[in-house]
Amino acid sequence: MAEKKARVAVLVSGGGTNLQAILDAQRAGVIRSGEVVLVISNKADAYALERARLAGVETLTVLRGECGGQEAFERAVAQALEERQIDLIVLAGFMAILSRWFTDRFAGKIINVHPSLIPSFCGAGFYGLRVHEAALRKGVKVTGATVHFVNEIPDGGEIIMQKAVRVLPGDTPERLQKRVMRQAEWKILPQAVETLCARMKEE
Ligand code: GAR
Repeated sequence: MAEKKARVAVLVSGGGTNLQAILDAQRAGVIRSGEVVLVISNKADAYALERARLAGVETLTVLRGECGGQEAFERAVAQALEERQIDLIVLAGFMAILSRWFTDRFAGKIINVHPSLIPSFCGAGFYGLRVHEAALRKGVKVTGATVHFVNEIPDGGEIIMQKAVRVLPGDTPERLQKRVMRQAEWKILPQAVETLCARMKEE
């Protein structure tokens, strides 16, 4: 009989390269204790949705505007996750802040990847390229990525994994973003997913 795997949902808003890293790690056997069974996007045109479809994963688009506000949006997402008995929720480039109602409901089950070494360049307003612009403005020589649990404070939950990446002379935000993704995000996010799924199976 096939071994029972943790059920993973990935929440996305954009390109979905982190989602792809998870799907690739699954295929390569790096993630073996969990399986992505659902991808939810809050943007209708997110390329991440296409990546999910190509991998044969169920997709769902939940738009805040169509739900009629933040509360209804979060209720719709929560319902979809609960109906499918999701064990682990991964925010991978999900550009929406979740309220305490949502983070409490799934406490200890939501993780996020952030493109800096928290507590630097994080919190409200720091997302995507803005994080790398801020790092370059400050002139740091080392940056990186962090995987952390999600609570009601933006980027404020317990740190699970971090990886440092060098800033190089002549870096643009785009070049730095790519290096941080390649050297850090796409590595530590799948590792964290496997570690947490394996732990869940033991519980
Ligand atoms: C990634 O760099 C991710 O860390 C970042 O957005 C990008 C999404 O790329 N997330 C945040 O800034 C969240 N605060 P992707 O859609 O290709 O995975």
